[in-house]
Amino acid sequence: MEKMIRFGAIGAGSAGTNRINQLAKHELGVKVVAAVDVDPTRLDNLAKVLGYDDFARYTGEQDFKRMIDENQLDAVGIFTPHSLHLPHVQYAIKKNLSILIEKPMVCGAANALEVTEQVEAKKLIGIVHYQRHFELKYMKAKELIEKGVIGKVTNFFVYMAQDWIGRTWRGIPKFCCGGQINDSGSHYQDIILWMLNELPVSAQGFTDSFYRGEQKQGEYNGMFNVELTNGITGRFVILSDIPGGFVDDVRICGTKGNLFFNGDKLIMQDVATKQYTEIPLSRPKGYPISPCDNFVKLIRKKVKINRVPFIFGSRVSLLTEAMLRSGRGKGKKILCEDILKECGHTLDDLK
Ligand SMILES: NC(=O)c1ccc[n+]([C@@H]2O[C@H](COP(=O)([O-])OP(=O)(O)OC[C@H]3O[C@@H](n4cnc5c(N)ncnc54)[C@H](O)[C@@H]3O)[C@@H](O)[C@H]2O)c1
Repeated sequence: MEKMIRFGAIGAGSAGTNRINQLAKHELGVKVVAAVDVDPTRLDNLAKVLGYDDFARYTGEQDFKRMIDENQLDAVGIFTPHSLHLPHVQYAIKKNLSILIEKPMVCGAANALEVTEQVEAKKLIGIVHYQRHFELKYMKAKELIEKGVIGKVTNFFVYMAQDWIGRTWRGIPKFCCGGQINDSGSHYQDIILWMLNELPVSAQGFTDSFYRGEQKQGEYNGMFNVELTNGITGRFVILSDIPGGFVDDVRICGTKGNLFFNGDKLIMQDVATKQYTEIPLSRPKGYPISPCDNFVKLIRKKVKINRVPFIFGSRVSLLTEAMLRSGRGKGKKILCEDILKECGHTLDDLK
């Protein structure tokens, strides 16, 4: 039998435990040999979920370095609060590890481009946990758009709302770095940029910090007009304080067809006839089922395509930064090329 992949986890909270467990159960053999979390109860819980506790445990804030140095790791997972992703991924890159990192990859376009360039230069495996790249309706929509089935894309509309609350580090700006815009909102910025295969050009809009009438810290809600390359425009509405479960509504308009995402379904409306058709969905042969699956299969060389390389994390970081700057600038239009210029980049670096 092939040697187990030696995996170390940084952060074993709710997302981390789920991802670590998926990896540990992967048919291609991953062994969790080490984990670090500043809250030891999270490591106790991880042991329970995994069904084994013979991994090395670390609990110091800077222990991610020791964990990486002391355990001959092949791969690492980063599942910590947003602002901590940067030092964690920088160290993992320095040590040439394969990296699975939660969204948002890192905060700020300059940081995102820096780590993306390093991962690419070293030819490391680096995948961002944007799981919608593995959902059939979004995969199919991307394919239809690429094939020109809906004609030229003109506009998009995104509404997402959640009872987000801003619990623990999420409500602390220095950890969350952009509230709900940078948290769940990150997924929707990602799928739009990914499905349309475009780059962000500008963002203009407003943010507020209200959770059910109570003023909090950081960006709880926001509404933005966004321009993408090729003249596409769209609207993002991101809310944090609705009661009940998660709600979203994503629509993409083309000159020939409009796409609607309804539950697990993908619906296309023919612009000329106004008729709606449900598009059949199926997973193409060999397409991984999740970021964790893609990650392990890349390490094992069972697949060649990384479905969420770091460049996607960089594109989203740029758009998020433009939205946040606009909100903080009271609705000023923010050009992405200006953000990039500040860190010595151009849009070409995001292609
Ligand atoms: N892809 C998704 O749909 C999705 C869903 C939820 C969360 N996430 C992402 O996962 C990450 C974690 O979110 P969560 O909901 O699991 O939060 P969480 O609070 O449940 O987990 C974060 C963990 O990091 C630990 N931690 C904090 N500082 C640390 C340090 N210096 N070293 C080691 N551990 C440290 C905390 O103790 C905690 O256990 C975030 O980036 C979040 O955006 C993604």
